[in-house]
Amino acid sequence: MVENRTQTLPETEFRPEKISGNFKGKDILSMEQFDPSSLKKLFKKTKKMSEIAKNAKPNTSLKGNIVTLLFYEPSSRTRGSFDAAAKQLGGQTIVVENPQQFSSVAKGETFEDTIRTFEAYCDAIVLRHPRSGSAQKAAEAAKFVPIINAGDGIGEHPTQALLDLYTIWEKTGTLSNIKGLITGDIKNGRTVHSLLKALSLYPNNIVYLLSPEQLKLDRVLFEELKVKGLNIVEIDKTEDIPKDCNFWYWTRVQKERFENEEEYEKLKNIFIATPQLLKDYGNSYMILMHPLPRVGEITADVDEDSRAVYLRNQVRNGMYIRMALLALILGINDPWTVFMEKFKIWKKTL
Ligand code: NCD
Repeated sequence: MVENRTQTLPETEFRPEKISGNFKGKDILSMEQFDPSSLKKLFKKTKKMSEIAKNAKPNTSLKGNIVTLLFYEPSSRTRGSFDAAAKQLGGQTIVVENPQQFSSVAKGETFEDTIRTFEAYCDAIVLRHPRSGSAQKAAEAAKFVPIINAGDGIGEHPTQALLDLYTIWEKTGTLSNIKGLITGDIKNGRTVHSLLKALSLYPNNIVYLLSPEQLKLDRVLFEELKVKGLNIVEIDKTEDIPKDCNFWYWTRVQKERFENEEEYEKLKNIFIATPQLLKDYGNSYMILMHPLPRVGEITADVDEDSRAVYLRNQVRNGMYIRMALLALILGINDPWTVFMEKFKIWKKTL
């Protein structure tokens, strides 16, 4: 049985490798693996990918590569954009939705066996799973292919943070001295956890967290982020929103993480972004983001506002960043990598 709530797997010794400028063959499990110069490299590639995607000429950087999309939880954007990203670059995908129902998981197969089976068929596995820590567990099980965490329970969603960060950077031209507001389910929102970790990689950032008491950030993560230098201010009413934010990041209250439906009903949509709220606390240079799906926490009449980027470049950036990430991880068509691979094979045959 797959749980949907807030369980985490026991901590193990395994730690994902830092990116340190080289993505080739690496798992992407957490924003903690990143540093500003690796992000700069990724963003440069993402910009190129946005041009490739708009170009009608077929691109073949991922030709001969197969990416498995193993999704134990529902997804529209993450799965759709990874699928599109692989195909934009001439790669192919195996899409396994709801494996707990439609794969041998239903017959009792272990998670490790499922991972080791799919790695035999592909070059990378993109995994979404309801348990926090599951991406790490998959990376421990996989022997030959990288694992990309597409959301592990209430843990992290690093590729969403990458596209969120890229969207902020596109607007501001910098990722330091940023002031942001994050609203909604700070406790259970994995996109929030990854975004906060991402913002903590740069100096002088300040984030206002607006949520009801019950949905506040986990204290351990709060302390870790503070130690890394991120300035966090927790607020519980809209009147305390500073008027000079560079971004607002609205999120959905994560219904599937609640034990009790009544509690969810009480907490959902306490804070709603409306044209009036933007008028009262917004400014001309900010952007309004949302990882989506939204379920009432931003009213539809906000969509026409050009500052609302969630259904505009934020969602498009999701595909571009995943194209760049797959290309860098699989390392195809990078002349230096191709040369080194050939050199290694040549050395082995001597
Ligand atoms: C988010 C997720 O799955 O964590 N969606 C997404 O990937 N864009 C946010 C959510 O479900 O609220």
